[in-house]
Amino acid sequence: MKERILVTGGTGYIGSHTVVELQNSGYEVIIIDNLSNSTADVVDNIEKISGIRPVFEKLDCQDYEGLDALFGKYPGIKAIIHFAASKAVGESVEKPLLYYRNNLVSLINLLELMPEHQVKGFVFSSSCTVYGEPDELPITENALIKQATSPYGNTKQINEEIVRDTVASGAPIEVILLRYFNPIGAHPTALLGELPNGVPQNLVPFLTQTAMGIREKLSVFGDDYNTPDGSCIRDFINVVDLAKAHVVAIDRILQGKQKEKVEIFNIGTGRGLSVLELIHAFEEATGVKLNYQIVGRRAGDIEKIWADPEFANRELGWTAVETIEDTLRSAWNWQLKLRERDIQ
Ligand code: WQD
Repeated sequence: MKERILVTGGTGYIGSHTVVELQNSGYEVIIIDNLSNSTADVVDNIEKISGIRPVFEKLDCQDYEGLDALFGKYPGIKAIIHFAASKAVGESVEKPLLYYRNNLVSLINLLELMPEHQVKGFVFSSSCTVYGEPDELPITENALIKQATSPYGNTKQINEEIVRDTVASGAPIEVILLRYFNPIGAHPTALLGELPNGVPQNLVPFLTQTAMGIREKLSVFGDDYNTPDGSCIRDFINVVDLAKAHVVAIDRILQGKQKEKVEIFNIGTGRGLSVLELIHAFEEATGVKLNYQIVGRRAGDIEKIWADPEFANRELGWTAVETIEDTLRSAWNWQLKLRERDIQ
């Protein structure tokens, strides 16, 4: 059995896929989650896939004493992957203090407790949102960090700074910041996927719900951008590919392969796809026609962004491998499974 890893937010969308990949690589996983945006039965589905039931404790990372007790109860945790955070851009504009409190306090608690409990490694869920509207594409890790366009985005920037300052102060921790592009899709078993709360804000959950008839039509926000077909361009990355990047990051830290105490990697495919291209790829991959219409731009949207993943490819030995067709089929199969389970 390999080392014990704590995954915060481990019943969430990206967290749950990562737990499976960690287990597949032989790590022992402890999940904590406050279940604010997920349900405990995710643990059953993780077990169905990996054959191993991870430890699950319902716990909020804002609860310092609870976290302290958790490290006592499960000694020997070698590293943390920190997913637990509030992540809805629109909601963060409405409730900034909730976002700042949750996303900052959770991180600070973990960083304070790590040295006390001899936890060495820390992998943090950051986001390409820290780049804002890029000046050059594809975007590398050295690109300028732009003023955040939402409190949510700002929490990611501040979290990166908190981590950097903590390490610079001499804290005995080693960190990898993973800047995700746009994670989509679901586990190929359709046992894990994204379960949006209420009306989805993100493109793919809205798209699959429209294809299912839950939503009448998908609105495409703008076709007058400076892109070949006028719609925005994103780097859509399969969630299982993304999950695997975390395993590689943990391996790298625990095997002492880091070149700096804080390393940053873009986790994307390097392929920019427009919103309209994605819609057509979905129709081709699934054979399902989508009802969509072009509407006005959404405030705050970035026109085009995709990753230069070369540094991650070379240094981590990690590359996104899933095709967009398989990824969109997996999202659709997950939506079909949700209907079967009468969830959505
Ligand atoms: C993608 C594209 C929309 C919905 C956000 C966060 C980011 C990240 C992922 C965390 C855009 C268009 C969308 C719809 C549409 N992090 N769209 N119709 O905005 O790139 O990134 O989510 O959780 O930090 O900012 O993702 O999926 O919302 O949008 O046309 O109904 O799809 O305008 O061009 P985004 P998204």
